[in-house]
Amino acid sequence: MSTTYTIRIAGLPLDENWSGLTIAPNHDGTSTLTGEIRDQAELHAVLARLHESGATLMELHSAALSPVLAGPLRTARLTLRPAVADDATAIWAYRRLDSVDQWLTGIPSDPDVFRAMFADPARLARTIVVEHGSGARATVVGDLMLRREDGWSQLGMADEARGSQAELGWVLDPAHQGHGYATEAVRELIRYAFDDLGLRRLVANAFHDNDASVRVMERVGMRREVHMVRDSLHRSGRWMDSVAYGLLDDEWRAGHGSVGESR
Ligand SMILES: CC(C)(COP(=O)(O)OP(=O)(O)OC[C@H]1O[C@@H](n2cnc3c(N)ncnc32)[C@H](O)[C@@H]1OP(=O)(O)O)[C@@H](O)C(=O)NCCC(=O)NCCS
Repeated sequence: MSTTYTIRIAGLPLDENWSGLTIAPNHDGTSTLTGEIRDQAELHAVLARLHESGATLMELHSAALSPVLAGPLRTARLTLRPAVADDATAIWAYRRLDSVDQWLTGIPSDPDVFRAMFADPARLARTIVVEHGSGARATVVGDLMLRREDGWSQLGMADEARGSQAELGWVLDPAHQGHGYATEAVRELIRYAFDDLGLRRLVANAFHDNDASVRVMERVGMRREVHMVRDSLHRSGRWMDSVAYGLLDDEWRAGHGSVGESR
């Protein structure tokens, strides 16, 4: 998936063809290049070209590298806080369990490899840790994801669609499942996404057979948008159905206080 980058350089690049990046001169003599960059390889290629053209890099910013959550959020029983690299050990301990891993993309069996993956700034930025209790008695019960992405748009509308939606994800330690913690945490994340981040659409995906996750989606008021038939290859070797759920800010506001409040 591509990521939107903002690159500020001294001066104005002479070459006008920056494969899709828009270039805007600033009043202070710097220029800002903005646009979608597919992956690290493409980013390095852009930075190398800028360097070769004699441009001085002043600032490199990606929304994907800024934590989606600036500070903690609290619910009746839980705290949602930005993940830090040290959370990797607690998270690996439950994500490696078969009952959890069976529904996820997968996890390395070596905790050190996981720790290195988890410390990737882009991953940390979109990961939110869910804790029960506070202070020294706080226990990590699960983790959430809020990955901001661009809405689809026609040519010329990309600026308005940029960063307008997000994909949500959730995982609970089995030791803490069955108490409504996922639903409580996801409800707060949805409120944060719409009220504080100003997003207009949230999406979530799951294997169709992942009943517990589908129930979370429906409890928080998300609407099933897609049921894909045998589109996803599970590591059991079976091609499984998958489902996609969505929720628009106006739907959430209209139903706030009623939609998704029942267990
Ligand atoms: C998906 C997942 C987070 C759901 O966890 P969960 O504990 O079932 O969900 P909640 O925390 O919202 O708890 C809801 C359950 O607790 C029960 N519950 C008990 N006490 C409750 C309370 N005080 N308040 C609300 N619900 C309560 C609810 O009845 C509900 O049970 P039900 O689904 O059998 O009806 C969990 O199964 C998981 O981590 N799975 C593995 C990873 C995964 O699949 N992630 C999603 C990938 S798409």
